Amino acid sequence: ILDVEKVSEIAHEHGIPLLIDSTFTTPYLCKPFDLGADIVFHSATKFLSGHGVVIGGLLVDGGKFDWIRSGKFPTLTEPYDGFHGLNFAEEFGPAAYITRARKEGARDFGACMSATTAFYVLQGLETLPLRMEKHVSNTRKIVEFLTSHSAVDWVSYPELPEHPDYELTKRQLPKGAGAVFAFGVKGGRQAGHQLISKLKLFSHLANVGDAKSLVIHPASTTHHRMDAQALEAAGISEGLVRLSVGLEDPDDLISDLNAGLKASQRNL
Ligand SMILES: Cc1ncc(COP(=O)(O)O)c(C=O)c1O
Repeated sequence: ILDVEKVSEIAHEHGIPLLIDSTFTTPYLCKPFDLGADIVFHSATKFLSGHGVVIGGLLVDGGKFDWIRSGKFPTLTEPYDGFHGLNFAEEFGPAAYITRARKEGARDFGACMSATTAFYVLQGLETLPLRMEKHVSNTRKIVEFLTSHSAVDWVSYPELPEHPDYELTKRQLPKGAGAVFAFGVKGGRQAGHQLISKLKLFSHLANVGDAKSLVIHPASTTHHRMDAQALEAAGISEGLVRLSVGLEDPDDLISDLNAGLKASQRNL
């Protein structure tokens, strides 16, 4: 968990804006502008739209960062060759960055959201608070279940007192620490593989923030080419399993995980 207040103070002492990826918390759990962030971005593919049916994102400028005073961003504060000599700060003031991001992005990459995608994101936003409450309450129940399971080595969720960011989380994320977290299954790579092969309710997918619960075991899927040493160096143990907890009945999710954990320990 990033201490946004502290990092924003350090950034501002050095004339640097702080950009925060708030995808996992959404504006429901955290408002980074209130903590000193200058620009916030989200993958709307995840919780904002909430149903795993779109790809989209957004960039929000708090409008407070003084690009001219910072003096570190000449392509915003001096005539910019990439945009016919336009001086974005002179022309748009505090909106220099967001204007350039939008104009240059649209011009060079042709980024334009389809109407259907925009509709899904807006539709999802209407239920964001209800969904986030349920994502968090389901997650808490699953974390509690996993922490006392004999096939589980460790659980990393910042609401657990043993997590190094526990105090910060209580302060910064009082409504909950979200629905994406990792745990370690005993028995490493083989156990992780056996676990995800057994799960029925959890979809085996690399996405997060869907209404459906999702699971991934990097050592046997996305990172299967890496040996134990390379995984360790990347901070991923062989037994690490990531969950994105959805909106299903928590008892059903726990029962699915229980069956998976039992299967994970066979023939080790
Ligand atoms: C935290 C976070 N930010 C941004 C992205 C990028 O999202 P997208 O796939 O919508 O471009 C992801 C994707 O996994 C993510 O997990």
